[in-house]
Amino acid sequence: MDACWYARIGAMNETLGVILNRKSTRQFLAKTIPEETKSDVIGATLQAPTAGNLMLYSIIEVNEQAAKDTLAVSCDHQPFIARAPWVLLFLADYQRWFDYFEFCGTGDFARRAGLPVRNPAEGDLVLACCDALIAAQTAVIAAESCGLGSCYIGDIMENYETHRDLFKLPRYTFPICLLCLGYPTKAQKARRPTSRFDREFIVFQDTYRRLAESELEKMFEKEQARAFKNRDELDGAVNVGQLIYRRKFAAGFTMEMNRSVKAILKQWEDG
Ligand SMILES: Cc1cc2nc3c(=O)[nH]c(=O)nc-3n(C[C@H](O)[C@H](O)[C@H](O)COP(=O)(O)O)c2cc1C
Repeated sequence: MDACWYARIGAMNETLGVILNRKSTRQFLAKTIPEETKSDVIGATLQAPTAGNLMLYSIIEVNEQAAKDTLAVSCDHQPFIARAPWVLLFLADYQRWFDYFEFCGTGDFARRAGLPVRNPAEGDLVLACCDALIAAQTAVIAAESCGLGSCYIGDIMENYETHRDLFKLPRYTFPICLLCLGYPTKAQKARRPTSRFDREFIVFQDTYRRLAESELEKMFEKEQARAFKNRDELDGAVNVGQLIYRRKFAAGFTMEMNRSVKAILKQWEDG
């Protein structure tokens, strides 16, 4: 969509304006966030839709500077995490419900009632991840509406053992994302929102549509021109696919993320 569309929609609808103006913020003013603002953001976050109204997530506010410093290293060396005034860890969480089930004697109850006796499993985990991410995105938009910028840190899924020990994570939790929040610097505020792929490649009607090679080429045309400018090669890559394969898909941090997530899944499975 062009800049005029953004401006027109933003002027017409305040909520859409907040959504369209948001961009990830990685530089924050050293300005304290009032407790009242934090409380408003958390209040809005807890009203996020949640599967079965179960609230299958927890939020840990990371207050200790030492913990932020650790995260700045363990989450793929991103120093801005240590400088974020407000850091929220979102956990997919079945532990609370599982503890409550045990407290309520659901094991005996299930046996008597002929119901399966079981522990949280893969489907429960994915559902809890949905809950946690929807809550996180609600926090992002709520924060944005209060003038706070934010940035997701997906690298929290790496180095599971470090994060488990740091936050005392029990078995049926999964650290799905971290949010860094704070008032954006002037430069961050002035930055234009980043562009997205055209909707024709993302939104389908009725059934899934595999993109033809010509469509894939068209989809990445702008990014190819932007990333490569007048160069034939970048980091040994000749197109965006090769570049992203090297920088993201086959990068060390992604390999670590896959190792770490396997370790978390094993912990859920080995009941
Ligand atoms: C699941 C997820 C994980 C992300 N992880 C990181 C991260 O570790 N570090 C970072 O700087 N940005 C991270 N981001 C932010 C993205 O890079 C950013 O959303 C994307 O480049 C689009 O830019 P925008 O948010 O400014 O529109 C993450 C975003 C999402 C949704």
